[in-house]
Amino acid sequence: MMTFQGSHILSVSQFDREAIAKILQISASMAPYAARQKRCHVLDGAILSNLFFEPSTRTRVSFGTAFNLLGGFVRETVGVENSSLSKGESLYDTAQVISGYSDVIAMRHPKMHSVAEFAQGSNVPVINGGDGANEHPTQALLDLFTIQSEMMHFGKGLDGLNIVLMGDLKHGRTVHSLSRLLSLYNDITITMVAPDALQMPDSVISILTDAGHKVILSDKMAGNLACDVIYQTRIQQERFASKDEAELYRGHFSLNREVYQKYCRENTVIMHPLPRDSRPEANELDTDLNDLQNLAIFRQAQNGVLVRMALFALTLGVEEQLTQYEKSVNWYTNK
Ligand code: CP
Repeated sequence: MMTFQGSHILSVSQFDREAIAKILQISASMAPYAARQKRCHVLDGAILSNLFFEPSTRTRVSFGTAFNLLGGFVRETVGVENSSLSKGESLYDTAQVISGYSDVIAMRHPKMHSVAEFAQGSNVPVINGGDGANEHPTQALLDLFTIQSEMMHFGKGLDGLNIVLMGDLKHGRTVHSLSRLLSLYNDITITMVAPDALQMPDSVISILTDAGHKVILSDKMAGNLACDVIYQTRIQQERFASKDEAELYRGHFSLNREVYQKYCRENTVIMHPLPRDSRPEANELDTDLNDLQNLAIFRQAQNGVLVRMALFALTLGVEEQLTQYEKSVNWYTNK
């Protein structure tokens, strides 16, 4: 199994099933701390530098929350324009400097492979919070954790699943990373619903087919999908050459209660990495699904805290010390 302590987390390709099982197991053990049933300041005094050079709500805040829950401090910079990258400083120099201030770094950047480039200059572990259209490994891990948790209710595991990925599969880095992770399991059927121009890159499809999985490509919802999970993605407007080009596809892949009932099973779990585009012209995941128990999108986002806590514990080598640092919580909490 890979050594986590001191390692960068840059791509899901670095994990095998054993490593993923370890991450998912440690993530589950973080639940009492995230739910404020207990405190665990095992990283008391450690510093996370949270560098987000591209917009984010849940990844940035959940990295910070995860680190704080383990007792560490968080320093942040947001946006290229507010950093010295805008003065021409290289990623290497920035990494040399920031890693001198920190014990671990989480980073998002709009350019593909930029986080790996940054990691070459870092003396501490770097965790990829999304690098352009390339990868979003922590999202894929939390997605897998969510699939595992949701499937448990139906007596299923991560093998033999039937999954639909829908939307902008070309630019959606979360579905690239998730597909790579799913390829490690057995007997997966994945239906990829996207217009031809936004279909999943061949390089990702071949990882699945080479591993013996069934991949079905479609430009529309059709027939009875009989899927365990439907995973919707946003049209990634920021990755198109122009807003007008993105507009061509907006609203084509709305999932609402009627569509869900027509194509999915009664118990199909609905996932989305969020943010969902709730503007009327997009409405990709209709609010008429909000009261469905199978809508897992907010549980999914909450699971991000658990998975990121686990990655901090593993990369900083404290995963065996958690219970030793447990304390009771003395404030009001309704979690
Ligand atoms: N899922 C995700 O990456 O969300 P944010 O862009 O808000 O971080």
